[in-house]
Amino acid sequence: MSQVFRHDDGDLLASAAAARLITRLTDAQAARGSASMVLTGGRTGNAVLEHVRGSPARDAVDWSEVDIYWGDERFLPVGHDERNETQAREALLDHVPVDPRRVHPMAPSDGVFGTDVDAAAAHYAEILAQHTAPDAHPPAPRFDVLMLGVGEEGHTASLFPDTPYVCESMRTVVGVHDCPKPPPTRISLTLPAINAASEVWMMTTGAGKAQAVAAAVANGTPPEDIPAAGARGRERTLWLLDEEAAADIASPE
Ligand code: 6PG
Repeated sequence: MSQVFRHDDGDLLASAAAARLITRLTDAQAARGSASMVLTGGRTGNAVLEHVRGSPARDAVDWSEVDIYWGDERFLPVGHDERNETQAREALLDHVPVDPRRVHPMAPSDGVFGTDVDAAAAHYAEILAQHTAPDAHPPAPRFDVLMLGVGEEGHTASLFPDTPYVCESMRTVVGVHDCPKPPPTRISLTLPAINAASEVWMMTTGAGKAQAVAAAVANGTPPEDIPAAGARGRERTLWLLDEEAAADIASPE
């Protein structure tokens, strides 16, 4: 089921998504004792984390019982300020008592895999598989919530239009080469891994995203053209938008 939520502006979207995220994590912990979430980069994703950090309700989450993953990463040295990991740590993770063993960043370009992004991606796929039931297909966790941004041309995670990565059907994680948006080398979950999530939240703002959002929300758009069209949660897919990004979505008949 796909649902669209329109907010007056990006700040309200981020604050509402933060409240929703706290509730989603506490609900999962009440049901199972732990929760899992997948983080995204970009302004909207980081703004949501900052709102979680600023919320008095954040302490309702047992942060030591949250598994934290990333949907994609820029393949840059550890601590680089353009890494999604660095930004998420600054926005939230350095300010709540997460268990470092449950924080699963994608490898940097100066880590044990050196500049071999494909080996780094294969390693992340192993981490996902280790946290998945042995007979599950694909070998990716049923994340409680997986957050994604959307680019003006419809990319999501680091899956860009008209690239082989968006059509990947076997691997759960890929090393992305020659990415059209810098930096050119990245690591990304693939659509099969994204679609293993229980809930997928697509979050974006601004008039520049309106066309891509409308195409992604419409039925039948090929992910090769608009990768965001291929991201779907097993249970729910939420589009958390500001009015500008939602402006071109066709109204229901
Ligand atoms: C990147 C960006 C990108 C971003 C989207 C949405 O990896 O180059 O982070 O993927 O997430 O373009 O960005 P905004 O939330 O800033 O609109």
